[in-house]
Amino acid sequence: MRRVLPVVMLLCLFGNSAHAGLKAIGKGDQMQLDPAAFPNKMKERYLLMKFKCAKCHTLERTVVALQTGIAPISGQPFDRDATRAYGIKMMRKSGANMNKQEIKEIIELLNFLLDEAAK
Ligand code: HEC
Repeated sequence: MRRVLPVVMLLCLFGNSAHAGLKAIGKGDQMQLDPAAFPNKMKERYLLMKFKCAKCHTLERTVVALQTGIAPISGQPFDRDATRAYGIKMMRKSGANMNKQEIKEIIELLNFLLDEAAK
């Protein structure tokens, strides 16, 4: 709860106004994005991300980072400079089971989603 509260507060501050472009469906562990309006290429990448990036933690962490522009655990900025660094960091974790091509595609998706969030 201690960790969730600041995130909820951030979502209230930014989620509905500045970053209205990226709508999440579901809450908490169920939180996901709705890829229906994404271009086909990004839809495929979203499926890849759902598969690869929700193994150790749920997608909530990534969705919140995209919506708020702040990585929820460390409080660091989650912007275009950060997506690559985080992608590589996650790829290198033991058990991540992602190759360079997959992480490249996921980073491109994260950058696309950041643009969507900023709309
Ligand atoms: C092998 C396990 C594992 C996989 C797979 C994984 N993560 Fe993580 N993730 C973690 C752990 C552990 C943390 C918390 C510590 C840290 O940031 O290193 C974390 C933290 C995060 C954070 C918050 C970072 C912060 O500084 O607040 C984000 C965002 C994130 N992950 C996104 C992703 C994305 C996107 C993917 C897929 C490319 C992914 N994770 C795949 C284990 C994983």
